[in-house]
Amino acid sequence: MKAVILVGGLGTRLRPLTINTPKAMVPVLNAPFLEYVIRRLRQHNVREIVLALSHLAQPIEDYFGNGSRLGIRLNYILEETPLGTAGAVKNAENFLDEPFLVLNGDIFTDLDLTAMMDFHSKSRSKATIALTPVDDPTSYGLIETDAKGRVTRFLEKPSWKQVTTNMINAGTYILEPDVMSYVPPQTKFSFEHEVFPPLLEQGEPIYAYPSSCYWMDIGTPEKYFWLNKDLLIGKSNQYHSVEQVVIGEQDNIHPTAQVTGPAVIGSNCTIWQKARLSGPVITGSGCIILENAIIKESIIWHDVRIEPGAQVSHSIIANNCRLGAGSIIEDSVLGDNVTVSSGHRLEPGSKIWPGTIVG
Ligand code: GTP
Repeated sequence: MKAVILVGGLGTRLRPLTINTPKAMVPVLNAPFLEYVIRRLRQHNVREIVLALSHLAQPIEDYFGNGSRLGIRLNYILEETPLGTAGAVKNAENFLDEPFLVLNGDIFTDLDLTAMMDFHSKSRSKATIALTPVDDPTSYGLIETDAKGRVTRFLEKPSWKQVTTNMINAGTYILEPDVMSYVPPQTKFSFEHEVFPPLLEQGEPIYAYPSSCYWMDIGTPEKYFWLNKDLLIGKSNQYHSVEQVVIGEQDNIHPTAQVTGPAVIGSNCTIWQKARLSGPVITGSGCIILENAIIKESIIWHDVRIEPGAQVSHSIIANNCRLGAGSIIEDSVLGDNVTVSSGHRLEPGSKIWPGTIVG
């Protein structure tokens, strides 16, 4: 089976992390998010993938190339302006001559794709939509089904009175190629609102494939953080953390520094005396954490310099930032190349755009 992965969104809710880095490339335990998605497809015998790109396409293509490193054939289709979920797949229609998978490129899930493919062909479905449970379904699109899993109704953002199920669209579909005849070319179009409801009205068989396996989208900084944490504590079967603290190659950690897990320290990092890192913590490669700095429950990308006595908690710090001596950063998200001056305390909850000098 082939797959289309949608990776052309603007990722506005994940800003400032996605100003320079596409959402698909944000690091999860120091590997680009999309690499997990591609590896999982490979495990389920998908051998050819189309990446539907628009915003910040080049870094994705530069990193993955033709896909041979991951044992997969990758094709790239570029939209000049984002065409929405269905418009993006329509753009890739020439590649799609048999039932195919469509994946939102910002979802991490342990969903059994092989079982979903079997279900799709056995039920002779035109479109099969994976479902996942959520606690509060009122801000999502709900999908109601009959006892055999055939979809009977789509319900957008219901009030609590209307809620009859907690199962929502999990952003993974298997589609027959003729579904794409419902999508006009080069037109912004969405599966959720403009393709699936008309298919249902026409009486076409649409099935749902529910699963309560691990599922997380990285749409917001909070969820991005949760995904990293969940992987570190073994909530997904795609990452087995055997050690509490994973140290990278060529790291130089002073014997008086304290690292408590779960933690992943990237390669070529230096941690000076009496610095304290308490997990979940992830640092990318080339970070320098100077004496008495404290990092707690945070994600630090590559080449970040944290100067003596600086304190970082519940924050995400993107590439090449410099946090001055004694600065305090809490519950904040810093884009690339941000400098926080020595002694400055950032307002908790700050989101700082790339290149800013604060304080
Ligand atoms: P927000 O701006 O924060 O809503 O993020 P987003 O732009 O990524 O939108 P959303 O979370 O709804 O998108 C879900 C998935 O579909 C993500 O993987 C997006 O990259 C992808 N996506 C959304 N819109 C488009 C589009 O127009 N074209 C392509 N190729 N992908 C899209």
